[in-house]
Amino acid sequence: MSITILGIESSCDDTAAAVLKDGYLLSSAIANQLVHEKYGGVVPELASRAHQQNIIPVVDAALKDANVAIKDIDAIAFTRGPGLLGSLLVGTSFSKAFALSRNIPMVEVHHLQAHILVHFIKSENKIDYPEFPFLCLLVSGGHSQIVFVKDYLDMEIVGQTIDDAAGEAFDKSAKLLNLPYPGGPLIDKLSKEGDPMRFKFNKPRLPELNYSFSGLKTSFLYFLRDQLKIDKDFIENNKADLAASLQKTIIDILMEKLILASEKYAIKHIAIAGGVSANSGLRNAIQTEALRRDWKAFIPSFKFTTDNAAMIAITAYHKYLKKEFCKQDIVPLARMNF
Ligand code: KG4
Ligand code: ZN
Repeated sequence: MSITILGIESSCDDTAAAVLKDGYLLSSAIANQLVHEKYGGVVPELASRAHQQNIIPVVDAALKDANVAIKDIDAIAFTRGPGLLGSLLVGTSFSKAFALSRNIPMVEVHHLQAHILVHFIKSENKIDYPEFPFLCLLVSGGHSQIVFVKDYLDMEIVGQTIDDAAGEAFDKSAKLLNLPYPGGPLIDKLSKEGDPMRFKFNKPRLPELNYSFSGLKTSFLYFLRDQLKIDKDFIENNKADLAASLQKTIIDILMEKLILASEKYAIKHIAIAGGVSANSGLRNAIQTEALRRDWKAFIPSFKFTTDNAAMIAITAYHKYLKKEFCKQDIVPLARMNF
């Protein structure tokens, strides 16, 4: 029997819908919300309003692209959390109404599990999938974690940030360089023309597999403040080198603990996921270490790094196979454990 799933993602500022059939992606539609740019970050109330406006056109686009009729959808899946409550409510309510009107099962999905499971989206020419157990470095705007993945739906966080996420470190530092939100991709772009060895920033000394990024942001702030006293155009004159040096520091911090984790657990299948896994420096660093340490590295294609609904649908597919459905009284959760 074939299974067609409509996935919905609305945890932050992207409204997304995707159709997945038996693990193969038929379509993936996303509406980005540009309204937040001028505020330098996501404004929760504006995000939930924009989700309300976007959700029906986005679902419509996903169904049309997939060439699938509403009656052919076997289950609807949505992000239950973690995320912004008002944003999550839109996807959750839409899914409840859709499930009720079609009399089909509903599947709740954990956003972070979904980021990791993008590695299992099937495609005709894909032959390599991570083997369990593997390690995944999950780095996004809200999370930085090393996850020990035992099975599709059995994961354990073995290390995580005690303060800011890696994406936040990129975005907050970018703001100090007068770059618009989200600054991560812009730092990445600028880094390509800069010298990563030019400036040195302090790295945290944390035990075990945990991360910390708030100190880096503060040392970057103080460094810029001191340099601007000497040269008021310091940022403009050194932007690419600043970006490259900052990016290198963030990647070094991420890689150090990932290498430690692979040694601790004796695991050589290493994946990356989440918005920051789009970073070209991080992608190169993973490949370099893979060669050096005989890892098999799994790097998602760009379209699956930042928030999307294909990841929700693939997670739901594995839950569907286990008949893990939810009821109509389900509520979204801003915070949610694995
Ligand atoms: O996974 P995601 O789309 O949303 C969350 O769940 O947080 O991640 C968004 C984060 C933002 O902080 C953004 O700046 C960062 O991913 N990001 C990048 C790049 N592309 C996106 N950071 C560094 N380099 C990139 N190329
Ligand atoms: Zn995300």
